[in-house]
Formats: sequence, C-alpha cells, structure tokens
Amino acid sequence: MSEGTAQAVYPPSAEFVSQANAGPELEQAAEADRLAFWAEQARRLHWDTDFTDVLDWSDAPFAKWFVGGKLNVAYNCVDRHVEAGNGSRVAIHWVGEPGDSRDVTYDQLLAEVSQAANYFTEIGLVSGDRVAIYMPMVPEAIITMLACARLGLTHSVVFAGFSAGALRSRVDDAEAKLVVTTDGQYRRGKPAPLKAAVDEALGSGDDAAKSVEHVLVVNRTDSDINWTDGRDLWWHETVAKSDTAHTPQAHDAEHPLFLLYTSGTTGKPKGIVHTTGGYLTQVSYTFHNVFDHKPGEDVFWCGADIGWVTGHSYLVYGPLSNGATEVIYEGTPNSPNEHRHFEIIEQYKVSTYYIAPTLIRTFMKWGREIPDAHDLSSLRLLGSVGEPINPEAWRWYHEVIGGERCPIVDTWWQTETGAIMISPLPGITETKPGSAMAPLPGISANIVDEQGKSVGAGEQGFLVLDKPWPSMLRGIWRDDERFRETYWSRFADQGWYFAGDGARYDDDHALWVLGRIDDVMNISGHRISTAEVESALVGHHSIAEAAVIGAADPTTGQGIVAFVILRQGQEDTGDQLITELKAQVSKDISPIAKPREIHVVPELPKTRSGKIMRRLLKDVAEGRELGDTSTLVDPTVFDNIRRGNKV
Ligand code: WT7
Repeated sequence: MSEGTAQAVYPPSAEFVSQANAGPELEQAAEADRLAFWAEQARRLHWDTDFTDVLDWSDAPFAKWFVGGKLNVAYNCVDRHVEAGNGSRVAIHWVGEPGDSRDVTYDQLLAEVSQAANYFTEIGLVSGDRVAIYMPMVPEAIITMLACARLGLTHSVVFAGFSAGALRSRVDDAEAKLVVTTDGQYRRGKPAPLKAAVDEALGSGDDAAKSVEHVLVVNRTDSDINWTDGRDLWWHETVAKSDTAHTPQAHDAEHPLFLLYTSGTTGKPKGIVHTTGGYLTQVSYTFHNVFDHKPGEDVFWCGADIGWVTGHSYLVYGPLSNGATEVIYEGTPNSPNEHRHFEIIEQYKVSTYYIAPTLIRTFMKWGREIPDAHDLSSLRLLGSVGEPINPEAWRWYHEVIGGERCPIVDTWWQTETGAIMISPLPGITETKPGSAMAPLPGISANIVDEQGKSVGAGEQGFLVLDKPWPSMLRGIWRDDERFRETYWSRFADQGWYFAGDGARYDDDHALWVLGRIDDVMNISGHRISTAEVESALVGHHSIAEAAVIGAADPTTGQGIVAFVILRQGQEDTGDQLITELKAQVSKDISPIAKPREIHVVPELPKTRSGKIMRRLLKDVAEGRELGDTSTLVDPTVFDNIRRGNKV
C-alpha cells in the first residue's frame, strides 16, 4: 500500500472512545495555554511545596521546570496510594525466569522501600550521592531505585548485560559510592554470574574504583561468589532487617533523580541527567493518557529492562506514580519456550502490553500458532517502542496479538526526552500502521530542512523539538559543552533540540519517523554507537582500523557489520580472528553489541579529509549499487573490498 492518503487508517472503536482518559479537550487545553496545561498535569502529583513558576528557560538549553516546587518521587509512587486506601492492591506481579513468582502489594512495596531507605541512610549515603544499580529484573532493583529517589540519591542503572568494563567506566564517571547487584542472574534457564563482573569492574589495590564504599548483594541464584570483607554486604542481612517505617523528605523539583548512560556518536557514553518534578510529571501524564490507564482495573506489562530508559519510565516511575498493577518478567521470551509471554498475558490477564518491534518480528517468525494457543482476550491496548515499526509487523500485532480490537500506540521518544513525545492517543487518533502520528498535547515538534525551514508533505527532514518539555534531559553529567554541542548546535539560532532522527509528514500530516541519521545504530531497540564498537575492535592487537555500520536486518531492525584492516605483519587467521574480535566486543561493551558480520578488508573508503564513508559501506553491506563515490580518495577501494570478501 502506498503511504499517501489512500492507505488504511484504524480509528478507535466507539466503545474505546467512550471510556478513554484522553479526549479532544486535552488537546484543546494544551493549545490554549501550554504552560498552564503542564501546571495542571504536574498537579496530578503530590507536592510538599507548590511551585512558583512553571518554566524558567532563561538559561537555555538548561531548563528548570516547576521552579521552587518540592516533592518526593517515592512518596508519589508508593506512600500516597497506601494513604488513599489502596495498600492491598498489587503493584508488581513479578515472574521469575525459572518459574518462581511473587506479588508485591503497595503496602509491601512501602515497607521494603522504607527498609532500603533506612539502611542506605545507615551506611552514610546522603542526598546528592550516586548509586550504581547493576541488577537483573528482580523486585529489589525497583525497590533500590525507589529508595534512592526517596532519599535524593541519584541512581545510575547499568544494564546487567553490559560488561565489567562498561560498568567500571559508568561507576567512575558518576563516582558512585554504592553498587547494588545480585550474586547471579537467570539466563535461559541457567544461573549466570553477575557479582563476579562487579568484582572485576571495581578492581583492587591501585586499580580499585576509588569512589565505591560498598557493594550490596541480593541473593538471587544461591551461587558461590567471592567476598570482599568490609566492602560487600548481603541484602538479606542488612536491608531486610531494617525498620519498615521511614518518613520521606521533599526534594527540589530540579534535584537530579537519575543518570542513564546512552551511546552517542563518540566512543564515550553520555550520562543523561533527569530531574525530579518535570520528569515525574511527564512520565505520569503519558502513562495515564497514552496507555489509557485505569487504576485497579488494568494490568500493564512493559517488556523492557530497567537498564534502559523505557524500563525507568514505564516499568517504574510512570506506572507506580499512577498506582498501576504491572507485570515484571525476569527472563527472555523463549524461556523455557516461545509460549512464555502469552502464558503470562493469559495468567495475569494483562490488558496493556508494551514491547519493541524487534520482538513482534520475532513472534512473527515463530508463527501465529503460538499466540493463537492462548486466551489473549484480556488485552485492550498495545504499544510499540524503540524503533520504527514496519507496517507489516504493525498489522500482524494488531490482528494476531490484539485480535483486531486493540488500538496500537507507536510511541516515539528517547533516553534524552525521558518520556513519550510523539504517539497516537488511543481514544482519539485514527492510526496508520508505521506512523507515530503526532506530538502529544503539550509537546511541540517539527520536521525541518538544513536551514530550519518546515519541509512539505512527503519530504524527508530533521526531527526537532522546538519547545522545551518537562521531562527533557537537563544535561550530560559533568559535560555541559557536549550537551550543547550534541543537541543544540545544529539549530542554535532557533534554539531547537535536534533529536538525531530523520522524519517526514505524509499528506494527512501524520508523522513518520525514519530512524537515526547520525552514527548511532539501533539493534533490537538498543542504541549502540558505531564509534564504541570500532574502538572495541581496534582494541584487538591485530586490528589497525575499523569501520562499523548498521545494516538493515529483518528481525533486529539493524545488524552490526564491521569492516576491519589488519595491522602490518598480522595474519588473517580467518574464523579464529573473527571469533576473537566478536569476543573482544562482547567483553568491552556487551554481547548485544557483537557484530553480525566482520569483514577483513585491505582498506576503507575515505574522503579526502580522512572521514570514513559509512554510507558507502552500508550500500555494500546491504547489497546495493554504490551511491556517489566522487568524494572518495581511491574509488577502486570497493573492488578490493568486494574481491577479497565476497561481500
Ligand atoms: C531512538 C532513541 C524510546 C525509548 C527506547 C529507545 C528510536 C524510539 C521509536 C519509534 C521510530 C523510534 C529513534 C530514537 N525510536 N522509538 N516509536 N519510532 N523510532 O531509547 O535508546 O534513547 O533510542 O530510538 O531513533 O532517536 P533510546
């Protein structure tokens, strides 16, 4: 089907419309007075001290939202639901990978968050200190995040699939005083070590991570682990024995709630800074409206890991600030078999299901007889996040998982935006498969050309956010210059945020996000920079130079393809070298960054100024005719690459 006006649109059913949280009045209110609209959204939260100004943009691009206001994030996510009489409501239906499970009510959550807050205070942590969290999807991970929020400790969650090296650089950059981890984690039915990676990361003697005072360990797998006396602490001997009552203090609206490291266009990950009032306002607002959440009725399930921003915003702060009941699943979708997700939906009567397109395409590959074997009639709304969803996957999701009755919200946002920015509203928007449709009420975006002029329908341009929003990043941790340079320099005259994505409008003004236009790859919804993988590859003794690109991949969106040049005197050992290089990337970054293909080539295509022409390598990797090669120093380079490698 063409992407013009003629394509099929999917309006919400009359039944869905009649009960939806968000109706046209939401849009009208935001149009009428944007800042008053955000003030109203902020007041869905409990403020200990009211704010005096909605937005202070005088020090742009460093925003201050809800100036002068004070609130406690954990109080908003836990205590106030208990005080409202909903303490016995289940907050978390936790499902472990080996088949164990645990329901955590809001009462229990309050008791356990209070214990952790009391213990963190006992070991000397005070507001402003940083805590690194390197944990699988266990309830204690969320409890730790909330305990940090309660005390004003800035947390930095590091995805438990990242390597020891990646953990170390994040611990050092943030100067974390405490690292919270588990002995091990279940992966595909078997316990795998995790604390060992913390030990390796933190080092010892002269090489020890200086900032870290303690490592707090949750016993998840009953594994044998090494122990450093004085530094290491068991959760069950400390936190679990602490007092279950704790009085929260309010924190300034601009107090840093968390850092989350994400890949940029250089090898060094950026510590994205999010703060308290604006972040919670927007994640809470979007959760309520985009997911049409009904407290006490809906069962929400977001399939992301807490190591990514989706996990922060829609596993922790968005759902819990709304008093939601949610599923948290520890494992992979095919453990013990491909029925796992559908069994969980059936068992817990999940009503709202939010996953990445790469998983939808994986389900498609496994075949519809798997979901068809389950009663999925509890579902009433589906969500997609992390990468553009191809129309074919959208339609399959709609028909096979959603039984043709569930609206789909294709939500565009980023680690930096903190919360959903562009998405259908399920009770209003007539959706088109593959389009994120329009900015949410209160959000302003545009698609522009190099000069900042709006592009016409059908033309590709740069996606920009042309007005500040409450959950916007407040900077890059200790690197103001990089913050300005990365996001605010391209349209500096206009003062717009450049998202790094290409996009276009269609004839109906529906917005289509086309993906990154910088050197950032998107592998299964995970953001990985070409520079990071390149620097891991050249870390191998036999590699002189490397160029990495994301090539189209039918399942993962993009797959990593690397081109490497050997150092002089080094021999191409074939498979052995490739295996070593893949291991090197796994070790330096994470197995998720392991290249799909590695080609040893005699040289790399470069411009006269020495810049590697990745665009041409992408053409080669995707089997296309070469684009414009006129700026290449040596146009014959591709004959050499192709001849040597049958690419
Ligand atoms: C990049 C941000 C959003 C949280 C998870 C990823 C891509 C994200 C969509 C979507 C098209 C999308 C963009 C964006 N992206 N959602 N619905 N349609 N593209 O967060 O790791 O910060 O990555 O993911 O390219 O810039 P992230």
